[in-house]
Amino acid sequence: MNPALTQFGDQMSHLTGVRAIMKDIIETLRAGQGKTFINLSAGNPVILPEVEKLWRDCTAELLASPEYGEVVCRYGSSQGYEPFIEAVLADFNQRYGLSLTERNLLITPGSQALYFYAANALGGYAASGQLKEIVLPLSPDYTGYGGVSLIPEALRAYKPTIDLGTEPHRFKYRPDFSQLEITENTGFVLFSRPCNPTGNVLTDEEVARIAALAKPHNVPVLVDSAYAPPYPALNFTEMTPVFGDNMVHCISLSKAGLPGERIGIAIGDEAVIQVLQSFQTNLCIHSSRYGQAIAARAIGSGALGAIAETVIRPHYRGKFTVLEENLERYMPESAPWYLHRGEGAIFAWLWFDELPVTDWELYQQLKQYGVIVVPGEPFFPGLKEDWLHTKQCIRISLTATDDEIATGVRHLATVVSDLYRQGVAAQTPVEVAQSR
Ligand SMILES: Cc1ncc(COP(=O)(O)O)c(C=O)c1O
Repeated sequence: MNPALTQFGDQMSHLTGVRAIMKDIIETLRAGQGKTFINLSAGNPVILPEVEKLWRDCTAELLASPEYGEVVCRYGSSQGYEPFIEAVLADFNQRYGLSLTERNLLITPGSQALYFYAANALGGYAASGQLKEIVLPLSPDYTGYGGVSLIPEALRAYKPTIDLGTEPHRFKYRPDFSQLEITENTGFVLFSRPCNPTGNVLTDEEVARIAALAKPHNVPVLVDSAYAPPYPALNFTEMTPVFGDNMVHCISLSKAGLPGERIGIAIGDEAVIQVLQSFQTNLCIHSSRYGQAIAARAIGSGALGAIAETVIRPHYRGKFTVLEENLERYMPESAPWYLHRGEGAIFAWLWFDELPVTDWELYQQLKQYGVIVVPGEPFFPGLKEDWLHTKQCIRISLTATDDEIATGVRHLATVVSDLYRQGVAAQTPVEVAQSR
């Protein structure tokens, strides 16, 4: 059967961004038959034993309690499971000196769903016909934003400035406030902090400046805090979650070890929360309650916050150090390669200035060496102008073992050295197996 699709149907039946590349990666891994690849592309968090134990213990507690039937055998409020909402509220009010009430919170089936609600409730065409833009103030950013709006032209990303700092082979993106426009035609502003893919953490001042630009126009600012404190606390640099009238703090428990349970949390202005909640009720009634019930225990006891700081953060920070050491060791000193400053998240972002081939070709050549990374271009959703830089970057996942990172970087150095030396596509290895 070949059902006739609507415009929305057509759009939503295509994979966007990295999801499309993941298909190529999965096919490569399958076709590899016996060949072992070093997979530096994974977005799935590592299953850390202490984290798995926490969720197992919380599950055992739930199973043994009379609450179990209430949790899984009944529908609930579309806002979320009450004990979970109470646990998050108490924790945030206490940690950050806030006076949030339950009307400031919404639980969603993963934070991706939350961005979908916002993108289509606040972005797109208003009743007046005016296009309300979804502004991404610092491109590159999370590739998943590329697929959230039913009106693709609503997405508008801004090119950053590049801060080379003083350290060789390092850089950092900064928002270009001379270009950034937030007006009455902005639906909402969205950015990840810490950022997937770059690991960038917008400074508290930069966030305050963006919020101040949005406020006079009544524009909500959604801070995608999938990697932020207090959980999973994947910030390697000091940062403070920013709250305020027009701010919506968006949490995900995926990187705190629960990606399978799909838990997102929006914390913000009552009116915005109400709109998102109605959207959710229409779409799926409510989020699954089992994950919320175990998370209520982990947050209420303080265990999740503690494990995030003592286990999750050190694990990925350690991996970033391993990557840095291997880059210093193997990468050609004279080549214009730059690592984005590792300020958080579970990825590293590399930029190869004046790369003689595209990021896609670099990805293909690395595959020949048995190394899989993610080409950078899909991380620039909504960027309207041509910018060569978008084809000069790759993302490396920090979920691999130390040995895999070392070997992967060694091969990367070989490919990149050849490319810069020849100024054209490097030769693929005659015998890949021998070089590994
Ligand atoms: C920055 C960012 N935001 C949102 C998401 C989606 O997370 P969730 O599992 O909560 O839908 C991800 C997932 O990797 C992410 O990296």
